[in-house]
This record gives sequence, C-alpha cells and structure tokens, in this order.
Amino acid sequence: MGPLVSQPSVLFVCLGNICRSPLAEAALRAEAVAAGLAVSIDSAGTGGWHAGDPPDPRAVAEAARHGIDISGYRARQVRREDFQRFSTIYALDQQNLRDLRRIQPKGFMGRPIAGPSARLSLLMDLVPGREGTAVIDPYGGTAEDFATTWEDVTLAAREIVTRLRR
Ligand code: 4NP
Repeated sequence: MGPLVSQPSVLFVCLGNICRSPLAEAALRAEAVAAGLAVSIDSAGTGGWHAGDPPDPRAVAEAARHGIDISGYRARQVRREDFQRFSTIYALDQQNLRDLRRIQPKGFMGRPIAGPSARLSLLMDLVPGREGTAVIDPYGGTAEDFATTWEDVTLAAREIVTRLRR
C-alpha cells in the first residue's frame, strides 16, 4: 500500500470531445509516460451530441502521425461530479470555460462547497505568451488545423508535466 496521497488527475474539456480535448488527452498521456509521471487523464465535452462516438477521423489521423492511436477513445459529456473527481479541469477555449463555470458546483451563500473541487482554468493560460487564447476549434477546418491543434495541446501538456514534477 502506498501513502495516502492521491495521484493528480486532469480533465480536458472542449465542446464535442471529438477533436481538441481527445488530442489534449493523447498529448498529455504521451508526455506523462515520457516523464515517468503517474497522472490520471480524461477528456469530455460540454455538449453531449457526440457522446459514445470515436474522435473525428482527422483527429485520429493527426494523433497517428505522432505514433498515438486514439481510435478507441469515446466521447462523453462533462458532469458536475467531474469537479469532485479531478484535481484540475482545463477548458480548451473561453466558451468552454464559461460553460464549465455554469455547471461548477457552487457553495451556498458564498460558503465553499463541502469536499474537494477541481481547479478550473483555460488551457493555454499555461503556455507563456499564449495566455488568454483559445485552442481554436478545428472541426470546420482542414488537416492543417488539426496539426495546429496538436502543436497547441502539446505545448500545454509539456507545461502540465513541468508543473506536476515540481
Ligand atoms: P471539439 O470540436 O469541441 O474540439 O470536439 C467540435 C466537435 C463537434 C462539434 C463542434 C466542435 N459539433 O458542433 O458537432
């Protein structure tokens, strides 16, 4: 039995959970393995239209270009309970962040909620020089846009690993 220190857990949230957040999940899994870090990682969407679906074929192809198979991932909608299950939740864009703030469990009359609650922030706030910016939705875009998404989420994943190692 190990010590009673819970392992960090990270949830990435975008709109559909078929383009950006699965790529963020894959990028952090790869960076965490490379760093020998134990971290629990998942992704979800603020919307539920794609629940149960595999990632967008262009996201699967982009991950495959980096040697990572995400074809087995399945989309799900974020739940209030996720705020108790994860230590950190990252929103891929500002609208995702606003939507997450709306479902985030709130204390009563300004009192904090009982028990732990995830820290919630904008993903690119982690990346120096990219604070306040979105990981742009590539859904209506091209394969190149998915490559840009991969670059963005990889930069952020490296910052997460750096922080977790401290
Ligand atoms: P994601 O991209 O939020 O990065 O997964 C989208 C996927 C699906 C839709 C929009 C964005 N959609 O409207 O179905």
